[in-house]
Amino acid sequence: MELHDSVSLPIVGEAEVWRLGSVTSTQDVARSLPIGSIVLADHQTAGRGRLDRRWESPEGTALLVSFVLEPNPLLSLAAGVAAAEACDPRRVRLKWPNDLLLEERKVGGILVEATQDRAICGIGINLTWSPDGAATLDQPRDDVFDRLRQEIATWTLARPDQVIERWRDLSATLGRRVRVDVSGAITEGLAEGIGPRGELIVDGVAFVAGSVTHL
Ligand code: BTN
Repeated sequence: MELHDSVSLPIVGEAEVWRLGSVTSTQDVARSLPIGSIVLADHQTAGRGRLDRRWESPEGTALLVSFVLEPNPLLSLAAGVAAAEACDPRRVRLKWPNDLLLEERKVGGILVEATQDRAICGIGINLTWSPDGAATLDQPRDDVFDRLRQEIATWTLARPDQVIERWRDLSATLGRRVRVDVSGAITEGLAEGIGPRGELIVDGVAFVAGSVTHL
């Protein structure tokens, strides 16, 4: 794609990659490292997901990685696009805000945690094990990681309109009926679009956060 040829890739080659065994969460390790650092672990004892959920996987069965990045309002969507491109853009789709789906089942997820001066972007992808009802990617971890580094570098530098356009192309959510749960307040309707700040538009109403179910 043209985008990949036109931007420079500062993370690749410059980033320090911390390859660790067992950690509480790669997010915790990444938090004290400089921008550009990447933390990769074989296992997490306290992995976490969005909305205070746990993220668990047996040792060596998942790609567990956190990137320390400049704050960016569209980072969550950009990371979703990067992860889908790295996994398999022909088969992996995005459920708003950034779940990775393989054949409609969750194969990975993204957690962005912002501090004052940086954003910690954690990505977990099931490779050879998945919880009930979820999917596995079944690709070698290092291959997925190498592609993911490159794609993160590309998409975090892309213009907002490029990120949103590609997110739309990869979306499994747009055009579907959905249920949005925001702290127990439920809305059902048609997922019509993505706004300029990455918000999901359902029957004309913009959602900036929440849990989405495809109906
Ligand atoms: C979600 O789907 O709710 C997001 C899951 C994010 C999991 C990854 S695994 C690497 C990083 N470390 C964590 O503790 N969480 C993220």
